Amino acid sequence: MTETVRQIVLASRPDGSPTPSNFRLEDAAMPEVPDGWVLLETIYLSLDPYMRGRMSGAKSYADPIAIGHVMAGATVSRIMQSRHRDWREGDIVVAYSGWQTHAISDGSDLRRIDPAVAPISTGLGVLGMPGFTAYAGLGNIGHPKPGETVVVAAASGAVGSVVGQIAKIWGARAIGIAGGREKCAFVKNELGFDAAIDHRAPDFARRLAEACPEGIDVYFENVGGPVWDEVLPLLNDFARVPLCGMISHYNDDAEAEPSVDRLPASMKVIQQKSITVRGFMNVEFIDQQPTFLKEAADWIADGRLKYREDIVDGLELAPAAFIGLLQGRNFGKLVVRVSGEG
Ligand SMILES: NC(=O)c1ccc[n+]([C@@H]2O[C@H](COP(=O)([O-])OP(=O)(O)OC[C@H]3O[C@@H](n4cnc5c(N)ncnc54)[C@H](OP(=O)(O)O)[C@@H]3O)[C@@H](O)[C@H]2O)c1
Repeated sequence: MTETVRQIVLASRPDGSPTPSNFRLEDAAMPEVPDGWVLLETIYLSLDPYMRGRMSGAKSYADPIAIGHVMAGATVSRIMQSRHRDWREGDIVVAYSGWQTHAISDGSDLRRIDPAVAPISTGLGVLGMPGFTAYAGLGNIGHPKPGETVVVAAASGAVGSVVGQIAKIWGARAIGIAGGREKCAFVKNELGFDAAIDHRAPDFARRLAEACPEGIDVYFENVGGPVWDEVLPLLNDFARVPLCGMISHYNDDAEAEPSVDRLPASMKVIQQKSITVRGFMNVEFIDQQPTFLKEAADWIADGRLKYREDIVDGLELAPAAFIGLLQGRNFGKLVVRVSGEG
């Protein structure tokens, strides 16, 4: 067994968009495995937008990552050594090992996954936190009714792709917004959305309005910014807006263009149309996760829930891939293959 752990640590805090110099690749000694703990080998590392917030010094729902500490993140890992009575060597689990090849766990953060249901990497995407976020936000806040129009941006990505497909399963119309022709073609033709609109096209506003002739009943908010500006006038009376994320603002802390104050215009429409905007974190609905995992596995098996993964090979490529995620360079759920499955 290798004696060292490869890690990517936070070297410095970003000022606007993260750069490669914010990260550092290091080797550390393999940790001892205390009684009641397991040693994990990372197979896949998930890269997710929330990690940008953890790189900042500002306090939010989770503490910032300290300078010099390993970048946080969910992984699909193999148990290499177990000194825990509930876990066996060879078990495949979703863990929270961070950006490193190995980690130890006391088992409290592990979820066993069944490789027979779907490829194990899906434990970080469609059958993991992003898929569950889509299900929880749409079901508990969006409440789409059959025939209603659901719009979601970042529609080819980990959360958005699942939002639109579940909206269809529940009988609604699904309109996706995505960056570029290739992503839009995938959203419409492969995922089966009713329409997909390119937010980078000059006629974006007109095409969005044409795709929503009866307005928008549910807008699942993933991006904010200029996309929100064009969605806002199309929202119907009593529309519901699950506020999941606002990725277009995650690098705002320094380099932002002079900031547009969207608040007064947004509040006016929200009030006059009796719109519900409800922020959420997926963990508040975590008791629904077992139901989601069962339903989603059935939908995947019968072909109603499709997914696309963007797999990058090698831990050392994680910083560049993560920087690209915040610029829309990923196409599907972004995952790093850290070691082989076999
Ligand atoms: N509330 C929660 O519990 C929770 C949990 C998970 C995720 N989230 C949020 O859900 C959202 C989607 O996350 P994800 O993991 O599914 O990511 P993703 O969609 O797989 O990847 C991010 C995508 O965001 C889009 N994007 C990036 N910068 C943008 C910009 N300036 N303007 C418009 N679009 C931009 C890009 O897609 P295009 O190229 O198509 O524009 C990019 O590919 C994020 O806001 C994330 O923070 C929230």
